[in-house]
Amino acid sequence: MSRTTLTNNPEERAEYGRIVDKTKEAILSSFQDSSAFSGIDPLALRKEIEEISILDEDGIGFDATLELAKEKIMKNLLRTWSTGYMPHLHSPALIESLSAEMIISAFNDSMDSWDQGPAATEVEVKVIKDLLKLFGFDSQKGDGAFTSGGSQSNLTAIVAARDKCISRLFGWDVKKKGLPSEFGRLRLYTSCISHFSMEKSSHLTGLGYDSVRHLPVNSKCQVDIGEFEKIVREDVSSGFIPYMAVATIGTTDFGSIDNVEAMREICDRYSMHLHLDAAYGSALVLSEREKHRLGKIELADSITIDFHKMFLLPISCSAVLFKSGEDLEPFMLHADYLNREEDEEDGYINLVGKGIQTTRRFDALKVLFSFKMRGRKGYGEIVEKLLENAEYAFKRLDADKDFTAPVAPELSSVVFAHVSGDEANKRIRRKLLSEGIVIGQTVMNGTVMLKLTLLNPNITHNDLDNLISRIKELA
Ligand SMILES: Cc1ncc(COP(=O)(O)O)c(C=O)c1O
Repeated sequence: MSRTTLTNNPEERAEYGRIVDKTKEAILSSFQDSSAFSGIDPLALRKEIEEISILDEDGIGFDATLELAKEKIMKNLLRTWSTGYMPHLHSPALIESLSAEMIISAFNDSMDSWDQGPAATEVEVKVIKDLLKLFGFDSQKGDGAFTSGGSQSNLTAIVAARDKCISRLFGWDVKKKGLPSEFGRLRLYTSCISHFSMEKSSHLTGLGYDSVRHLPVNSKCQVDIGEFEKIVREDVSSGFIPYMAVATIGTTDFGSIDNVEAMREICDRYSMHLHLDAAYGSALVLSEREKHRLGKIELADSITIDFHKMFLLPISCSAVLFKSGEDLEPFMLHADYLNREEDEEDGYINLVGKGIQTTRRFDALKVLFSFKMRGRKGYGEIVEKLLENAEYAFKRLDADKDFTAPVAPELSSVVFAHVSGDEANKRIRRKLLSEGIVIGQTVMNGTVMLKLTLLNPNITHNDLDNLISRIKELA
C-alpha cells in the first residue's frame, strides 16, 4: 500500500512537502496570461473530460495524476483572480486565505462536536461573538453559525422564523409534530428582485413558493415601503399570517439595499421576524467611509453574511447571526453517539445543535486569518476600491450614448446594455467568453442587460476602459 495519511514519520512529512510544492508549481504553471478562461467551447471540453478514465484497476501514482489534472482539467478551470472575470458574486480568494485553506484541509477537523475540532469549535464561537458585535448585536444574547453559503444561511433563518411564529400563534412545536393545518396561510415578504433562495427555502420548509410575497421595487431597486405596508394589510384582512420579511442588503444584480428601518416598523406592527439577506453587502461593515449605506442593520432579528462574496474568502464561507440565540432552538437535537448533553453540561460545546449541517468545515479560520492579517483598515480599503471601480464604470457607461445604465450602483455591480438590442448584447457576452473575458447577463423589465460584478480589487480603470471599448467594437 502506498502512503496514506500524514503521520509523524519523517518520510511522510517529506512526501507531504513534496506534494504541496508540486501542486503549487502545477497551479502556477497552468496559466500564463491574465485571461479568466481558456475560451474552449462546452462540447470540446466535455469530450476531453469524457476521455478520462476515472477508476482503473491500478492507480497511476501522484505525479502522473497531477500531470493529468494539469493537462486535462486545470488549463480549463475558471481563474477567479483574473481581472477579466466579473459575471457573478463569485470572488477571487485573498492570498492569505489559501494558507488558511491548507490548514483547514490538512487537519480536516469537523465542527459538529467538540471532540472533532477542539480549537476549531472555540475559534468559531469566538468569531461568531465578534461578528455579533461587528453587526451591532448583543454578543451575550445573540448567537449564530457558519454555513455552506448564503442560501443555507437564509434557509436557517426561514426555518427559525417559521417555527417561532407557529409556536407563538398556535402553541405548536413544528420540530416534533410537523406543520400545523394553518401552514398554508403563512406569508414571507421580500422584494421581487430578492435571491431565489427565498423560494427554494420556502419549498424546503413545506410552505411552498406561494408563501413568498414579492414586493415591488422603486427606481433604485429597493422595496417600495408603501406597497409593502398595503400588501401586508390586505393579506391580513384576507386571513393570511405574515411571519417574516426579508430585506436584501445588496441585491444579486444591482447591489441595491432595502430600507431596514422602514421595514422594521412594519414588521413590528405585524409581529414579523425581520431577516437581512446581506450575503452581498455585509462586507461594507469593514469600511468606516461606506458602512452608512447599509442602514440600521442592528434592527434586524437575523442576518446572512457571505464571506465568499465581497470579503473575498474561498468557497465555502458564510454565517447567519441571530439577535436572540433562542431562535436557533429548532436545530438542537441530541444523539448518544455525537453530542451528549452530559458533555455539554461540563462545558464541551457541540456546534451541531446550531445549524443544518452535521459534518462541517472549519471555515471560521479563514475569517480569523484575513481579519487579523489586514485589520479593519486594510480590509476596508479593499471594499472601498470595489465600490470606487463600480462608480467609475457606471459614470463611463452612463455618459456614453451607446449604452444605457439604469441604476446607479450602491455596491460593486453595474448593470447596463448596449443600445443595439437584446440579441447583440447576448452575442457580445458569448464572444467575450470565447476571448477569456467573463461578464454577466441578466434581464431587467424584459430587456437583456449585461452586468459587471466587480469583486477583484486588482481591476484598474484602464481595464474597465479597455473592456468598454471592446464591447463597443463587438456591438
Ligand atoms: C443576495 C444573495 N443572497 C443569497 C445568495 C446565495 O448565496 P450562495 O450562493 O452562497 O448560496 C446570493 C448569491 O449570489 C445572493 O446574491
